[in-house]
Amino acid sequence: MTEISKRIESETKVFEKIIFEKNIKKCLDAGCGIGLHSIILSKLGVDVVGIDLSKGMILKAQELSEKFNSKAKFETLDFLQTKDKFKDEFDLVICLGNTLPHLLNERDLLLALRNFHNALKKGGLLIVQILNYDKIIQNEERIINIRETKDKIFIRFYDFEPTIIGSPSLKVFEIRRDFLKFNVLIINKLENYSHKIITTRIKPIKSEELCRKLSLVGFKDVEIFGNLMKDPFEAKSSKNIVAFANKI
Ligand SMILES: C[S@@+](CC[C@H](N)C(=O)[O-])C[C@H]1O[C@@H](n2cnc3c(N)ncnc32)[C@H](O)[C@@H]1O
Repeated sequence: MTEISKRIESETKVFEKIIFEKNIKKCLDAGCGIGLHSIILSKLGVDVVGIDLSKGMILKAQELSEKFNSKAKFETLDFLQTKDKFKDEFDLVICLGNTLPHLLNERDLLLALRNFHNALKKGGLLIVQILNYDKIIQNEERIINIRETKDKIFIRFYDFEPTIIGSPSLKVFEIRRDFLKFNVLIINKLENYSHKIITTRIKPIKSEELCRKLSLVGFKDVEIFGNLMKDPFEAKSSKNIVAFANKI
């Protein structure tokens, strides 16, 4: 069984529960990447549209969708541009896999959340999953994960980029962690352990900020959990922040 098949199998149960509880018929997977969640939901009978900024990701998603006999539809689309395209259309919008921290300013984050709200029907549900930056920033956790395949090793890690607010010379200043550098070190075992690093800047979002912004754009009953199974969120120990927010 491939790694992708294993992920699809293990995550299916979680989504089954969500679909059943909320009677989900139509879903938007915003920032779908290679489309794993779209495929899972489609195979559970949900009408799914997966969108991603990257054409490469969409091509891969279409390829996998065919392989797994899913009916999900995919489109190369920026979720910051969906205001006039999707309106009161979906029962569920998901934005998973730590996608939102890739938005580098507050205006874009609010625009994305507004577009998700706009895309939902009344009574619809938004699920957002990001890493637990409350914990990562507090502990300055540098290593995210290390993964090894037959030929490669992937080490994902952060560089902390301090933003100094105020005047250090006057000794009135604050050091903030407004941005992090997210690095993926890829080591090729088959080529004498040659390596390359891919670096992206991200803007971490803490749990309190996520809740506040979801409420600001009109979501109600915003709840934060530690995972999709709704285990409690513990700021000091949870790996993820998962928000469930409703459009009323
Ligand atoms: C970390 S991946 C997560 C993929 C998938 N949701 C998952 O959980 O596996 C983030 C994805 O979001 C996409 N993305 C980032 N900003 C976007 C935007 N403004 N509109 C659409 N997709 C976006 C990226 O291209 C990337 O494929």
